[in-house]
Amino acid sequence: MSAQAARGNWGSRIGFILAAAGSAVGLGNIWGFPMQVGKGGGAIFVVLYLFCVFVICFPILVAELALGRSSGKSPIEAFAVTKPNTPWWVVGALGVMAGVGILSFYSVIAGWTVAYIWFTATGAVAGTPEQVAGYFSAFVADGGKNLVLAFAVLGITAAIILGGVREGIERASKVMMPALLVLLVLLAIRGLTLPGASAGVAYYLKPEWSEVTNISVLNAALGQAFFSLSLGMGCMITYGSYLSKSTSVVGAAGWVAGLDTTVALLAGFIIFPAGFSIAGFDPAAGGPGLIFAVLPQLFATMPGGHLFGAAFFILLSLAAVTSTISLLEVPTAALVDKGWPRKKAIYVLTGVVLALAIPSVLSQGAVAGLSRMPGVEMDFLSLMAIVWNNWALPIGGLLIAIFVGWVWGADHAIAELSAGGVAFPGARLWAVLIKYVCPVAILFIIIMTARGMFGG
Ligand code: PHE
Repeated sequence: MSAQAARGNWGSRIGFILAAAGSAVGLGNIWGFPMQVGKGGGAIFVVLYLFCVFVICFPILVAELALGRSSGKSPIEAFAVTKPNTPWWVVGALGVMAGVGILSFYSVIAGWTVAYIWFTATGAVAGTPEQVAGYFSAFVADGGKNLVLAFAVLGITAAIILGGVREGIERASKVMMPALLVLLVLLAIRGLTLPGASAGVAYYLKPEWSEVTNISVLNAALGQAFFSLSLGMGCMITYGSYLSKSTSVVGAAGWVAGLDTTVALLAGFIIFPAGFSIAGFDPAAGGPGLIFAVLPQLFATMPGGHLFGAAFFILLSLAAVTSTISLLEVPTAALVDKGWPRKKAIYVLTGVVLALAIPSVLSQGAVAGLSRMPGVEMDFLSLMAIVWNNWALPIGGLLIAIFVGWVWGADHAIAELSAGGVAFPGARLWAVLIKYVCPVAILFIIIMTARGMFGG
């Protein structure tokens, strides 16, 4: 048995696609994307987002998968074995930290979605838009309850990856992803046929270019694209390391990016028409509670709405868990590569993440100083999202692009991806993107944003 086979492989190409799409599709698409669109001024954000996904992030997705498959290692080791005796392993270490940091707030939001299964099924959350919004703020302000929920999410995640990822993720993803897609399409149809929906569609699809006054919108779009595709922290390096040499990686990457983008766009077709059908709706004011305020209103207009609502939050919770699994897998694999027993690594990491989740839990109304932090004028959870998504992931992506494009070498990556006669359509274009376009574009956005923030 080859070393790679001993480490484990995806059962099939479709299994890999669904598992990687399972990592990519999550709260980022359904909770995060509409919220960012709301903050970023509507359609203009959508355009910038699509640009970031296809021009900047897709080449990096291919690069991460190539590096993972070629090295057959988790992020820190992947850099270390590809360029021994250089400090590049630090990029992997940054990714491991990002995994822990992101999981610490992600598990809190995943806890909300789990609770909303119950709230929608029982009809507890209902009434006027104010009552529905009020229900959300009262619920998230309950620190104890939310800590238990976050703990439950982390516990489930740990249990799954303790039991071996591949069987679990691959199997669950095959059923869940199609079910989620079908439900999203149904909800979008319902949203689009509500009275007043057209205002939402216009907001979502008609860019007002005059709205781009601030480079930070571009930074948010870039961060969202990285986050949504699970990029910039070595998650796709890890998943790539389980790929067999005969898989056509570029085509698979296209499927992953396509599915991820479809789900995000569909979420917008649900939230905005439904939101604008409610009088006095302000998408920019929604914040982390946006979908939790809008969706119950949508379910209330549907026959069997309790059922639809519960089904929706069940699928969203499952989509969240296929992402938390990949978030926890990265630091776990890193510790295992350092010689830790897998079990011990998972227990320790779960404890660390839970401790780090506490300030996020308490930042939604439970503790005033965390709910509106002086100086930044936002809650701790939102601050975490900005630090990791808008800064850590793009910086990680920048370093990965430089590493694969220049240090390891685009030609080596192309050779890896065309091994065994597999076609790599657009290989030359990819090389140009990864070597020049990605690094320059990311650097530009990061520098401009920093200048705007620090008043340069
Ligand atoms: N892509 C996931 C989502 O959109 C979040 C994630 C980010 C998962 C980074 C893994 C790594 O919900």
